[in-house]
Amino acid sequence: MCKIAGIAGSIRRGSVNAALLQAAIEVAPDGIEILNAGIADIPLYNGDLEADHGVPSEVDQLKKIVGACDALLLVSPEYNNSIPGVMKNAIDWMTRPPKDIPGVFGNKPVALTGATPGMVGTRFAQTAWLPVLRALGMRPWFGQQLYVGSAKKIFDESGHLADEDMRERLTRFVQGFADYVREHKK
Ligand code: FNR
Repeated sequence: MCKIAGIAGSIRRGSVNAALLQAAIEVAPDGIEILNAGIADIPLYNGDLEADHGVPSEVDQLKKIVGACDALLLVSPEYNNSIPGVMKNAIDWMTRPPKDIPGVFGNKPVALTGATPGMVGTRFAQTAWLPVLRALGMRPWFGQQLYVGSAKKIFDESGHLADEDMRERLTRFVQGFADYVREHKK
């Protein structure tokens, strides 16, 4: 069994990125488990907080979950053509202290996707993540690209991915990444 930690970069109810992660969890092939590694409880990074109290337990917990997985799936919203602060904040906390970076992220396969009600489908945000992944020493998977635009049309009111074409594309994307993760693990 390979385990992939999935992080959806939005903490709002009704998030289309949380819905996309849930759909990815549902279409994962046999032998692959995608976990929902939530970031809702992560505080804002504050160096004073870290100096006085160390890394918060919620961050430690998230680091342990990702550290125990074979790979990472980032499902990122796009804010102002770039990375959303909430998600970047969570990743930044997880790089503290820096000596833990190799154990949590280092050399692990990582895939990027994301959803937006807009037309373009988080292309800018996914590109903006790339320097961060380099800083973390990860192994980005570039085998396929999945940009989920017009999200309000393809998810129904309960957050179910109702659009069959997108479900097939997501299934191919998750399968391709799963193959990469398995190959990397050998
Ligand atoms: C957005 N949104 C947005 N969408 C997009 O496609 N490109 C963008 O540059 C932006 N910029 C942006 C900035 C800010 C501050 C907000 C709050 C929103 C819209 C965004 O895609 C939309 O709110 C999504 O629904 C956010 O994802 P979740 O929360 O539904 O997962």
